[in-house]
Amino acid sequence: MTRTAVGILISGAGSNMAALVNGFAADHPGYPALVFSNVPDAAGLERAQALGVATASVDHRGLDKPSFEAALEQHLTAAGVEVICLAGFMRLLSAEFVDRWAGRILNIHPSLLPLFKGLNTHARALEAGVAVHGCTVHDVTASMDDGPIRGQAVIRVRGDDTAQTLAERVLRMEHQLYPKVLSRWLAGHLDPVALFDDRAP
Ligand code: GRF
Repeated sequence: MTRTAVGILISGAGSNMAALVNGFAADHPGYPALVFSNVPDAAGLERAQALGVATASVDHRGLDKPSFEAALEQHLTAAGVEVICLAGFMRLLSAEFVDRWAGRILNIHPSLLPLFKGLNTHARALEAGVAVHGCTVHDVTASMDDGPIRGQAVIRVRGDDTAQTLAERVLRMEHQLYPKVLSRWLAGHLDPVALFDDRAP
């Protein structure tokens, strides 16, 4: 079986990256070719190395977007990356970059899209008084947090939730959802995955 080389882009702790890497079992249609960060001291880079995955970083500060993306693309090409997973990658990619990788980039976002695009999703969910919240894996298009939905995981919002408790429960679901979606998506299954937090009251 030819396996697809996956590049994982991170900016921080890399817990979704670790979940993806740990999800690459022997019969997985992909393998982790590179973990890349725009933050050279991102904790996720050490975590990737400890998991035995090649890493690279380019500090975005001081570079304009075309220069940063050219450097990123050099690393992706050198590692033979065919598909990109954004996993807590906090830079917006240009329309040109996304067009070149059209149909080959996934992102995970901590809300049930199309609700709460952008930042501070958990606080905004609480503020809106929603009964359920969660996370979404979607194809990346030039519009932020848009693109066809490939999977969603749902949690119940409790009366005593804070943005922090919601973030923790959603993150646990992210770790279940992203590996599942990636393996199905690489195998050509595009119908969205639905997961529910079965520990919810
Ligand atoms: C996750 O909640 C992800 O959805 C969001 O940023 C967080 C990254 O966490 N975009 P980690 O770096 O994967 O631990």
